[in-house]
Amino acid sequence: MARVDEDERSAGLELARREVMAAGLAGSLLMGTPATASARSEGSLNSALLSFRPNGVEQALEIDTRSSLLDVLREGLGLVGAKKGCDHGQCGACTVHVGGRRVLSCLTLAVQVEGCDVTTIEGLSRADGALHPMQQAFIDHDALQCGYCTPGQIMSAVACVREGNATSPDNIREYMSGNLCRCGAYVGIVAAIEAAASKLQGPA
Ligand code: FES
Ligand code: FES
Repeated sequence: MARVDEDERSAGLELARREVMAAGLAGSLLMGTPATASARSEGSLNSALLSFRPNGVEQALEIDTRSSLLDVLREGLGLVGAKKGCDHGQCGACTVHVGGRRVLSCLTLAVQVEGCDVTTIEGLSRADGALHPMQQAFIDHDALQCGYCTPGQIMSAVACVREGNATSPDNIREYMSGNLCRCGAYVGIVAAIEAAASKLQGPA
């Protein structure tokens, strides 16, 4: 009799173990199914077709709606001139022009530039390769050392002149204060902007 009880108890335990395993498997499948569907639907909800004109060339590309303009330029189009310094709007290394006005591309959603003209440092020189006067002035005045901040400095400098703010060294310093240079090339940068200001007329 004791032997029968033992066998029944073992059979019961085995059944219980199978039920637990089956329940666990069913649970994991149920948990997995909605997660996968949700990821798919998120993928379609979060993608969009972006059409804009970086450096005068019409582009249409599918992007994640959460992408920054900086990431789309650098990773989507290979325009790596705009630099990712802080990625938080604090250094100016990512400065580009949208519709002729300077913006921090790390803080700009790519979807915001739909239909816009965007100019990066790559689009500043002329089609024949001649440097923009501001680029040349930076070279002439040694306004760079490591050069990492230089694309953003030059884009801000061009905008500073265009905005009518390059009227004195103090003004230049004020309106370039959003661009940091860890090498401390500020003296050369101010000199370069002063020198280029007289040569710049109209949109770059
Ligand atoms: S990378 Fe955009 S402000 Fe620093
Ligand atoms: S030139 Fe090096 S950070 Fe500006």
